[in-house]
This record gives sequence, structure tokens and C-alpha cells, in this order.
Amino acid sequence: MVELQAIQAESKTELYAAIAVQLRALLHGERNLVANAANTAALLFGTLPEVNWAGFYLLDDGGSDGEKKGELVLGPFQGKPACVRIALGRGVCGTAAAERRSVLVQDVQQFPGHIACDANSRSEVVIPIISNGVLVGVLDLDSPHVGRFDNDDRAGLEQIVEVFVAGLA
Ligand code: SME
Repeated sequence: MVELQAIQAESKTELYAAIAVQLRALLHGERNLVANAANTAALLFGTLPEVNWAGFYLLDDGGSDGEKKGELVLGPFQGKPACVRIALGRGVCGTAAAERRSVLVQDVQQFPGHIACDANSRSEVVIPIISNGVLVGVLDLDSPHVGRFDNDDRAGLEQIVEVFVAGLA
């Protein structure tokens, strides 16, 4: 069993820096994508306040034909069961993946095409995961509160994704 370390932080910058330290330790010595994604989701869900879903959507490689299907498929997560497949360009996750940029949504009801997996979700932030120029998937966090995530969360989670990507190499 791995115990989460209690984090006392005065700012979001400090909080994410402390989470990044724990994540590096958690991923140390393991490169498996599913195992590392599962522990990353558990760490974020266990340390970030006011979050009702934290997890991954991974790019489906389309199997043996090697053709990218242009679709995200649900990966390891914490929270309620979620939509399984999301086309690139659809919803917040598909937009972040297609445009390879982080997407911060203060109020999901104002985001055209938002995919409601958990009716409680009110705000969301999605970070693309790119390894050696190749899209791996996205990291998605939801909150039951409007405006839960700001640019400090986006920057902090981008740092978390950097640690995650480094752990795959
Ligand atoms: N709301 C997301 C779908 C995934 S769930 O929030 C877990 C979206 O619009 O892409």
C-alpha cells in the first residue's frame, strides 16, 4: 500500500509542486501506461479539493491495422462511471486532444458540445498528454462547483502531465 502524504500548501503553486514530488515518487521505476495513469488519477483525486472526477482518456490506436481511429477511450479514473468513447474534436476532452491545448471551462453549461458524464459536474479542465510529439490522450478533472479551476490549476496540472510523460520514457 502507498500512503498519500498530507499536503499543507499556502498556494495552488505550492500544492501542485508538492503533488508533483509525490507523483515522481509514485511513478518511480514503473513505465506501464495504465498503472501510472491509475496511480496519477488516485493521487490527484485524493489530494485536490472539490473535484468529483479525475482521470484519463487515451487515444485509441485502432488495433492491429495501425490506423488511428481519431477517438479517445476511457482510461483509469476516480469518480463516477463515465462515457467510454469521445471523438476527437467533441466535448472538452475531444477539443483539448484535437487542438493539443489545455482547455479550462469555468461553467460547463456555457461550453457548446460539453459531454455531461456526471450531472454534478459544473466546471472542468483538460490537459493534452503528448509524448515525443505523439498524442497519448488527455487528463480530465471535473468539479461540482462553477469556476473551480483557474490558470494556476491549468499550469499545475500541465506540470503534473510533464511528470506523467517523463514517467513513460
Ligand atoms: N465532460 C467531458 C467528458 C468526460 S467527463 O467529464 C468524465 C467532455 O466534455 O469532454
